Amino acid sequence: MLSFVGLALATVQNQLGPDPVKQLALLTGNRGFQFLLLSLLISPLAQLLAAPYLIQWRRPAGLWAFYFLSLHLLVFAQGYIGWSWVILIEELIERPYISVGALAWVLLVPLALTSTRAARLKLGASWAILHRLVYVVAVLGCLHLIWQVRSDWINAGVYTLICVLIAGSRYRNALRF
Ligand code: HEM
Repeated sequence: MLSFVGLALATVQNQLGPDPVKQLALLTGNRGFQFLLLSLLISPLAQLLAAPYLIQWRRPAGLWAFYFLSLHLLVFAQGYIGWSWVILIEELIERPYISVGALAWVLLVPLALTSTRAARLKLGASWAILHRLVYVVAVLGCLHLIWQVRSDWINAGVYTLICVLIAGSRYRNALRF
């Protein structure tokens, strides 16, 4: 259902309820964030389970996150602001949740572009430093959700709790070495 074709089919077949644009934004945003968190969970999981082969899934998870969040951005551009630069600038100024979301997506671009083995070899030690930006993206993603909350805190609360747990496990690891 959540492939591009699946989303397009669900849209043209009117399967997304009374507000399909909002539904598409929620679906792509949630799926993107879930893959982002999965990419962050893989290292601690690999360590916990003594399963280093899990690491090979980190890059695909990150790229799926980028894919869904890019769809999320396209849904916003088409369905919320009709590709208008003027409305985009207004939204960025007036709605902090849009500006932090946009910053998070912009930070994901260099991570996706340098996710190849060749880029990793070329960048050497700076690759790891650059890719720590993914933690900043996760924090901005949480702020993006927290700023949107009207009454139901569950979604924002669950994502933020998972981010705090991942940060805690990385911090504990850093103290050990
Ligand atoms: C240019 C970047 C972004 C824009 C313009 C944007 C915009 C939006 C909009 C308009 C909504 C729906 C609000 C509504 O109608 O209720 C939304 C929801 C959401 N966004 Fe984004 N977003 C961006 C980036 C991101 C990023 C980077 C993430 C994750 C790291 C993310 C995760 C989510 C999630 C999970 C939801 C659903 C919240 C819920 O279930 O209530 N977004 N976003």
